[in-house]
Formats: sequence, C-alpha cells, structure tokens
Amino acid sequence: MNLKGKKTLITGGSAGIGKELIRQLINHGLKDFAVIGRSQNKLDALQKEFKDVNFILVAGDVSKVKDIDRLIDEVRSHWDGIDLLINNAGVVSAAPLQKLSDEDIINQININLTGVILLTKKALPLLKERGDAGIINISSGLGLIAKPFYSVYAATKAGLKHFSEAMRRELIFENIHVMTVYPTATDTNMLKNVDMEHMDSVKLVAERAIEGFLKNKIDVILGGEKRLQDVETNKNSPLEIDSHIKDNYDAYKNRSENHRAM
Ligand SMILES: NC(=O)c1ccc[n+]([C@@H]2O[C@H](COP(=O)([O-])OP(=O)(O)OC[C@H]3O[C@@H](n4cnc5c(N)ncnc54)[C@H](OP(=O)(O)O)[C@@H]3O)[C@@H](O)[C@H]2O)c1
Repeated sequence: MNLKGKKTLITGGSAGIGKELIRQLINHGLKDFAVIGRSQNKLDALQKEFKDVNFILVAGDVSKVKDIDRLIDEVRSHWDGIDLLINNAGVVSAAPLQKLSDEDIINQININLTGVILLTKKALPLLKERGDAGIINISSGLGLIAKPFYSVYAATKAGLKHFSEAMRRELIFENIHVMTVYPTATDTNMLKNVDMEHMDSVKLVAERAIEGFLKNKIDVILGGEKRLQDVETNKNSPLEIDSHIKDNYDAYKNRSENHRAM
C-alpha cells in the first residue's frame, strides 16, 4: 500500500504509541486523521502540535457504543471512506485476580477488546468503500505469552490476536489487509509506574509497525530475537516458561504492584 494521502482513523492517537504513529505517518505523506480519546485537552494539544493536519477529533470512549456511533457519523460526514483503521487505545490494570476490582476487569475487557470489535464492525463499510485499505490492531507481547498478575489484560490482548486472525481470513476476498502489532514494554504513560530495566521507544514501535504494514506483514512482534524464541518456547514447551515464572515469582509480583493506567 502506498500510504500517501490515505485517511486514517486511530483510537488513542492523543498520546504514547498512537501519537507517534500519527507523527511518523505524517512523514509518509498522510494528512487526514480521525482520532478518538477521552480527554478533550489531549486532543486539543494534538491539533496544536500538528498544525497542518486535517483532524477530526472526537472526545469519547471506545468502550461506549454511542461514542463509537458518534465517531463513525462524524467521519462519514467528512470522508467518503477510511483507508486505515488503527485500533490502538488500551488500558491496563495489573494485580492478582482476587484483588482486581470488578470495574477494572470489566473496563479492561470493554476498552481493549469489545471496543475494538465494535469499532471495526462499524468502520468496515467505510473501509470497504476504498480500493486498498488496512486495519492495524495494537495487541501486546502479553497477548502471545501470558504473565501472572496480568490475567485480564493478557486475555484482552490474546483476544485481539484471534480477532485479527479471524478478520484477516473473513476479509480474504476484500482489499483490506489486517496486521497485528505486539509491542513489549514501551516508554509511555502506560508504564510510568513500573520499574523496567529496558523499554522500547515509541519511535521504534511506530517505525516497526509502519514498516511491517508497508511490507504486508500479518504480525509485527517487538522485543528482538529473545522474544521470538520465548514465543516458540511458550508454544512448544510452556512448562519451561512456567518454571522461569516460578523462580522469579516475587519479582513479577513486585513489579506489577502499582501498574494501573486506566
Ligand atoms: N506501553 C507499553 O508498554 C505497551 C506494551 C504493549 C502494548 N501496548 C499497547 O499499546 C497501545 C497504546 O498504549 P500506550 O502505551 O501508547 O498508552 P498511553 O500512552 O496510555 O496512551 C493511550 C491512549 O489511548 C487513549 N485511550 C485510553 N482509553 C481510551 C478509551 N476508553 N477510549 C478512547 N481512548 C482511550 C488515551 O487517551 P485518553 O486517556 O484521553 O482516553 C491515549 O491517547 C495500547 O493498546 C496498549 O495496550 C503498550
């Protein structure tokens, strides 16, 4: 796909990985973006930062059907189609399952998974109107290898993996490419309360995602060779991963203790 001039709908484009994707897509010749995020202030700041971009900015929550409908109506009133849908918005709340609040369980599922499915459903007619369209879903390394204390987050991100796979196959006769990105720890607001030795930059994650999309990849997995090996180990010898977790249980528990970005 040649990206130049493509119209992009991105969720959570007002911060972190989503904002960096916008920055880099602008460098690829894109200038039309529809963005949904809950905070109007962050959306206003986005317009100030990227003055030459034609934005459709919608303050709303991807887990609310009426907000998704409002977003789609807004997009439809300005554009005759969507070339690229990026399902990026996401939240996390880590804790042993018994300690996770019911609200954090429900909201993680609704924002990270149900919202993606609903928005994709409602954006499909607009994507199908274009000759050459794409969907990029931002999952997580935890969608490939689940870790303790991230049971609900990991479930949403693994759900996204299967949703992407099913949609890729469902749309096989459409000109809509579906790609999934699996970032590992990345330096954004989402990880500000976590003590990590190494974090990827948003620049790297966005570069790899765009490069993968331009090469028609179906999966982009961050985290280097080690990560790819771990994914294979998790598939073929999952008890090896269990034993690593067992040996480092307290470290995993301590590190996840204050990890909440909702
Ligand atoms: N950072 C990491 O280490 C990491 C690793 C793996 C995967 N990921 C995934 O990458 C994606 C982006 O994460 P990030 O690190 O860039 O997060 P971030 O810096 O916290 O940014 C999240 C963005 O999503 C928006 N958002 C959150 N909840 C929303 C909702 N209910 N409705 C609409 N917009 C919402 C936020 O805006 P408002 O707050 O204004 O709504 C913000 O623009 C997420 O799906 C995350 O799960 C991140």
